[in-house]
Amino acid sequence: MKIDILTLFPNMYEGFKTESIIKRALASNLVEINIHNIRDYSKDPHNKTDDYGFGGGKGMVMMPQPVFDAIESLKTEDTVVIMMTPQGDTYKQSMAYEFSLKKHIIILCGHYEGFDERISSIVDYEISIGDYVLTGGELPSMILTDSIVRLIDGVIEKESHEEETFNNNLLDYPVYTKPVDFRGMKVPEVLLSGHHANIKKWREEKSLEKTKLKRPDLIEKSWFYEN
Ligand code: ADE
Repeated sequence: MKIDILTLFPNMYEGFKTESIIKRALASNLVEINIHNIRDYSKDPHNKTDDYGFGGGKGMVMMPQPVFDAIESLKTEDTVVIMMTPQGDTYKQSMAYEFSLKKHIIILCGHYEGFDERISSIVDYEISIGDYVLTGGELPSMILTDSIVRLIDGVIEKESHEEETFNNNLLDYPVYTKPVDFRGMKVPEVLLSGHHANIKKWREEKSLEKTKLKRPDLIEKSWFYEN
């Protein structure tokens, strides 16, 4: 898979690409992540990428020309273009699965007051990472990339994401490590029993219990939902 990120702040991706699982995925060529400066595509004599919005109001607006040129020069027939914007659809694990199967993704990061509305015509998805406003789309693009890359075959053990939170719309079951007794708080007996069927059943119950308590909104969408 190839991910091209279009940004005005390429330096923000330094640490992102050089640490932990993303670093390993890049080193093993399981993914290619390229960071492009939108400014490099500007035809303005001063490489401008934004200007005042028509009709007044404060804040600068991203101009269509550099964004269109950047996307058009990178796009192939296998590409999906994703725009990061607080006005987009709220990002979910199911979308991460969908995107992890794509060959080529372009992620467009905005800044300033927003994108010129005409930019929407060249993107396939407009995605928000939640109902709050950040200074730009760079952190959201890293969140998207991280959530997608970890699902690519070979990046992490398959079992790690087959059983994790949001699969089947349930939160993860509780996990414990050593010591068995920490300040009087004990690891549940069943986990020490070695009885796989009982452990599985306990985990399913806890997963459901936790979801009902913390995210009842997810329950209805789960396979466990019964009227
Ligand atoms: N840009 C600024 N805020 C954002 C958000 N919540 N999601 C995606 N992109 C953004």
